[in-house]
Amino acid sequence: MTRVGDLAVVRTKNVSPFELCVDVLCHDRPSYERLLAALSVAVVARLYGVAEADCELSSSAPALAIKFTIPREVDAGGVGDRDIFGAAQAVPLQELPLQEPPRTESSPMEPQATPINLFEYQERARELLPKHEYDFIAQGATDEITVRRARTVFDSILLRQRVLRDIATRDLSTTVLGRRVECPIMICPAGFHTRVTPDGELATARAAHAMGTVIVLSNSSSHTLEDIGAATPGGKWFQHYLYRDRDLTLTMAKRAADAGYDAVCITLDFPPVPPKRERSIRNRYSQEPSPNYAGLGVPRYDYGLGHDAMRGVGELIDHSATWDDLHWFTEHAGLPVVVKGILAGEDGALAAESGVRGIVVSAHGGRQLDTTVTSIEALPEVVSAVAGRAEVFLDSGIRRGTDVFKALALGARAVLFGRPLFWGLAVGGEAGLRDVIQILRDELELTMALCGHSTTATIGPDSLYLSSPLVPSLSGTAHPTSVSGALRF
Ligand SMILES: Cc1cc2nc3c(=O)[nH]c(=O)nc-3n(C[C@H](O)[C@H](O)[C@H](O)COP(=O)(O)O)c2cc1C
Repeated sequence: MTRVGDLAVVRTKNVSPFELCVDVLCHDRPSYERLLAALSVAVVARLYGVAEADCELSSSAPALAIKFTIPREVDAGGVGDRDIFGAAQAVPLQELPLQEPPRTESSPMEPQATPINLFEYQERARELLPKHEYDFIAQGATDEITVRRARTVFDSILLRQRVLRDIATRDLSTTVLGRRVECPIMICPAGFHTRVTPDGELATARAAHAMGTVIVLSNSSSHTLEDIGAATPGGKWFQHYLYRDRDLTLTMAKRAADAGYDAVCITLDFPPVPPKRERSIRNRYSQEPSPNYAGLGVPRYDYGLGHDAMRGVGELIDHSATWDDLHWFTEHAGLPVVVKGILAGEDGALAAESGVRGIVVSAHGGRQLDTTVTSIEALPEVVSAVAGRAEVFLDSGIRRGTDVFKALALGARAVLFGRPLFWGLAVGGEAGLRDVIQILRDELELTMALCGHSTTATIGPDSLYLSSPLVPSLSGTAHPTSVSGALRF
């Protein structure tokens, strides 16, 4: 990543002789509006030696992507990423002829327009981000049915409101793998936070620490796991994989231990052929490898069709691994092991037998395989099979405090959220992500209070209706309130 004053030039794409794109992230919308035109013209002038009038700038503002179209008569052969970064860095921002931004009542950064729920955060982020980045984060696999189903299922589970149960004080804290967290809401592993904010995972780690919760750092982080480890004393797990090279598997765990992480999280649902994410295929999305893999020759990840597409870290993963390999890892990792990507009771039981300390029931946000069961539907079966031998967590589709409550009621110790971390960071950096966590936490507190719970420990399946007690046409026939009953929709 290359910084340009208040901006960060994150990457360039689609460099052809007459067209280049530079993604620029600003801290706020007014900065963007003031700097966009001036910076882009200056970069082009520096690169190609053309005058301001010769450059046609197109940008779908407020998206933070600048696309230059270079006049045909200019010889642009041989210009590459490095040249563009160099030119962007060389622009003296203080000398740019900045225009005051037009102020309108509907400016999205105005205080009165602050999002008040996670859906509004997503909408605001959609306005701010380049389309290819927004699509990469928001999408699911193929028809995105599992993504939508998660919302339908969470919305269809009904709460049993209770009253007069002394809810004058409420304690949302719990422990995860022995560490106290202020609320049962953690941050999912997700690659490259610099795609939405210049500070990337540094901002995420600070937000998690400030809110008293845990960040699970992705192996595909934009800063090294050591840099994030040193950023805060807060709770951190490091997510990686079972690699073909067993030494690398252990080396990653040792690096995490040395850098102060509490646990390693092994993601098990990384397929041997690319997941079919059609928005990114259309956008020809491509991703650089993380600095965590420096020196290992990991290629870029191209979200193209076909088996010859480069698959980044996927090239290193052992797709022949079995439960014996996981068992080996839990014995040698030197840190508690959590596995992620479990959707079946049998796999939950096998994971527990392999010695893991935690299990994340996860449909990977519907990003890997479409039309799987959603994680909230799979949760009761996994909780039952694990039978207390490991802590069970849930991700995929958490957007409301009521979702958190329902997952806890069905046996999760805590939940994690993925996409909303990007929406918070995109809208307001570290403060935006803190606000996202605060919103979820406050909504959970309200739900707990009106369902008669002053601590998370007492929340159980008797707080839910898994189908309507009265309206069969909406949600089934009987009114099972036990987790052993199937969800009916
Ligand atoms: C942009 C993005 C990148 C992700 N990268 C990873 C990753 O590197 N490792 C991983 O185990 N899961 C990754 N995930 C999946 C999340 O950890 C999580 O399972 C999912 O986002 C949860 O669903 P939600 O987004 O609906 O909350 C990623 C998700 C997103 C949206």
